[in-house]
Amino acid sequence: MGSLTDTKTWKALQSHYDEIANTHMRDLFAQDDKRFEKFSLRAEGMLLDYSKNRVTDQTMTLLRALAEDSELKQWIERMFAGDKINVTEDRAVLHTALRQQSDNAVLVDGHDVMPDIRCTQEMMHKFANAVRSGELKGCTGKRIRSVVNIGIGGSDLGPAMVVQALQSWQHAKLDFYFVSNVDPHDISSTLQHVEPELTLFIIASKTFTTQETMVNANTARKWFVQSCDEGAIKNHFVAVSSNMQGAENFGVDSQNIFPMWDWVGGRYSLWSAIGLPIALSIGMDEFENMLAGAAEMDDHFRNAPLQENIPITLALLGIWYANFFNAQTHAVVPYDQGLARFPAFVQQLDMESNGKSVTRDGEAVDYTTGPVIWGEPGTNAQHAFFQLLHQGKHLVPVDFIVAANSEYENSSQHKMLLANYLAQTDALMTGKNLDEASEELRQKGISENEVAKLAPHKTYPGNQPSNSIVVERLDPRTLGSLIAMYEHKVFVQGIIWRICSFDQWGVELGKQLAGGMLGQLEAKNTQDIKNEPTRGLMEQIIAWRSSRELD
Ligand code: F6P
Repeated sequence: MGSLTDTKTWKALQSHYDEIANTHMRDLFAQDDKRFEKFSLRAEGMLLDYSKNRVTDQTMTLLRALAEDSELKQWIERMFAGDKINVTEDRAVLHTALRQQSDNAVLVDGHDVMPDIRCTQEMMHKFANAVRSGELKGCTGKRIRSVVNIGIGGSDLGPAMVVQALQSWQHAKLDFYFVSNVDPHDISSTLQHVEPELTLFIIASKTFTTQETMVNANTARKWFVQSCDEGAIKNHFVAVSSNMQGAENFGVDSQNIFPMWDWVGGRYSLWSAIGLPIALSIGMDEFENMLAGAAEMDDHFRNAPLQENIPITLALLGIWYANFFNAQTHAVVPYDQGLARFPAFVQQLDMESNGKSVTRDGEAVDYTTGPVIWGEPGTNAQHAFFQLLHQGKHLVPVDFIVAANSEYENSSQHKMLLANYLAQTDALMTGKNLDEASEELRQKGISENEVAKLAPHKTYPGNQPSNSIVVERLDPRTLGSLIAMYEHKVFVQGIIWRICSFDQWGVELGKQLAGGMLGQLEAKNTQDIKNEPTRGLMEQIIAWRSSRELD
């Protein structure tokens, strides 16, 4: 197979880019007063306005041809059917089965995974009910008040993000904490806030071998047995893992190990028992509403034609900017404080999936793949990095996300949030040219000299692309749809870029080296470190630690 960049469609996109690269969106809007109508999509309680992108009908037609060339529809069906599309790990990719609403069989190696999923969901249901009702008691007979999830990456980011996003649904008598970092700060500061007899620990690790999680889990257990009996561990520690033996060896009662499977990738796992903190926080019924919202997005993704398909449209726009405009980054800015961790969640989802340099066949790619994902909630972001978006030199496509209604009563404040949301997408698109800036200054009675001096600083180039994503309200259902939408966007891009979006070999080298370096730090012996700068760093660290007698 030749390179993607040699295909007819790619070349057509390249010459189309050369024609329209400098077109201003202002002109595109001036030429077409139905642009919003034409370039917006509605599905599953969600509106995507993509009119503020540097695209024409021709751009979208060519991008859709690119999707068709990559046999996208067939790849989508292969994923839903349980084919082993994670080629480097020889695994199926079935987070969609976790939210499938019917019991239709989904086969992996001839085995139907649906009964396993239903059984685990039933286990989650019973457990969540028992904790939430107070029926499940701690070792001193008191109800559980605090839930501490210990996990990292996909075993942390998804549940932490959702629990925060749906805080207004949270059980009034339960507090939630998420410990992920191996930095002792994380576990130590959390343990200061909770009491052993009132605390439930969830050790969340697909492999049950991840260093950070194992170390934090052991610290939590040590802390726990300082106040409670070893035998009480079974009341206070549960696990979510595909490594049953590992969890049992840690001391978790086999009845309290919630299974997961190798066909669920870590960053796609919040729909599995990794979502247990979510079920504990909002209840299993609402958790199931979240699954239903995701399933609706799955149906839309699978069945909507390309021109009406929200995740596919977002993916194609991302490719347009990354590969033709050379945009290196993509910002995700939710105008919703509850979604404060959403950019970090999408960061893992996208960057761990599509941060790849070889094709599925192992050939080096000669084009850009996944962008750097970053972001913060608005309006805070406006007072931090928006300056660069408005007047800097980078092209940064931005996803603006908002709910039309707040879950909190203060409606006038929410209107301010909405006004800011709308104003920013408008300002980034329209900008303000030198003439307009000068005229505005003149209107204030400023001298021509001053006008000439100041106007360049008060000019905004505009033409910064953005997607506006609006939901009616941020409830479990729409949140489920929103997350699934991003999962599918990432999937589509991976297919078009011909990479394997489901492995994460890139994280292994650092893990390997860290193992050796821990030994060297402990032995205070740097002799075997090959690389001189690393040796120099370690020597200084050892010296400074010795001077404070930390060892
Ligand atoms: O190191 C990366 C990674 O494997 C992620 O993909 C995963 O989400 C995370 O570590 C945690 O893995 P586990 O759930 O096995 O502890």
